[in-house]
Amino acid sequence: MRRMLLITGASGVVGHRVAHLLAARGTRARLMARDPGKVQAPPGCEVVAGDYADPGSLAAPFRGIDTALIVSGYAREGDRARLHGHAISAAAHAGVRHLVYLSFQGASPSSRFPMARDHALTEGLLAASGVPYTALRDSLYLDAIPHLFDRDGVVRGPAGAGRAAFVSREDVAQTVVAVLLQPPAVSGALDVTGPEALSLYDVAARVSGLVGRPLRYEDETVEAGRLWRATSGAPDWEVETWLGSYLAQAAGELEPVSETVTRLTGRVPLTLERHFTEFPEQLAPLRVGPR
Ligand SMILES: NC(=O)c1ccc[n+]([C@@H]2O[C@H](COP(=O)([O-])OP(=O)(O)OC[C@H]3O[C@@H](n4cnc5c(N)ncnc54)[C@H](OP(=O)(O)O)[C@@H]3O)[C@@H](O)[C@H]2O)c1
Repeated sequence: MRRMLLITGASGVVGHRVAHLLAARGTRARLMARDPGKVQAPPGCEVVAGDYADPGSLAAPFRGIDTALIVSGYAREGDRARLHGHAISAAAHAGVRHLVYLSFQGASPSSRFPMARDHALTEGLLAASGVPYTALRDSLYLDAIPHLFDRDGVVRGPAGAGRAAFVSREDVAQTVVAVLLQPPAVSGALDVTGPEALSLYDVAARVSGLVGRPLRYEDETVEAGRLWRATSGAPDWEVETWLGSYLAQAAGELEPVSETVTRLTGRVPLTLERHFTEFPEQLAPLRVGPR
């Protein structure tokens, strides 16, 4: 019997890539987005509207689904898990047989990173739902590195010399596809990381070599980081989330390197250099010098 897959977050980078990787293997999925008009669907895919914030909109997308990917949405700590809970409830109600959830490395109630605490809440909802699941705990994305730097080529934050096992979103998407097509028999969480753990000093030096421009990391205190970040006008919870991502790195929460990508996909995960060789356009913001 043909299995039916649902990909949420299909207007986003990971969901889009997963849908196209599945299509390339001859598997057509149902694709969900808040705005179906934003989805660039492979031929033959069904695109449906659904919003985690609107539980009533989720029944139809999950109906008849065997396996679903739940891409994490965006809201403050606690609210975000509540939104994910709506999707998990819809899946349970529809009799979905396996859920794949995009979590974050170090997900724990005691994490320094508010979003990792929130992911732990969502993982608790998954476990309580009775639906078999796999939480893929992605490390920081290599793809996000160019956006860490300001116009002067400086990244600031209280990460100290802490290291993170940065992973390419391409390896994340490939791993998601492997789990969707062959869900593990036992529910649980898997770290999804790159091949090595890097400090922000390492990141600045190595990306500098790629763009031919000096880049540097400046460690700073939490208080200094909070002060300048607050001037951006961002709400307090976003400022604390930003600080927390650096503090989690400083505390070593993102340092463990896992074998998950290779074990599930047969791929060697991309190093920083190989990632930016494959996606050179992502370095464009860093090729622009100071004003
Ligand atoms: N590990 C890291 O370094 C890192 C960095 C950034 C993000 N992330 C996480 O990884 C996830 C996937 O990454 P990505 O690059 O694919 O992110 P992305 O491109 O921002 O895509 C996020 C997707 O989630 C959808 N979404 C947001 N809120 C939703 C809601 N209330 N209901 C239904 N769908 C909703 C978005 O839909 P719209 O198009 O309607 O907004 C979008 O399709 C992100 O959601 C984020 O949680 C991790």
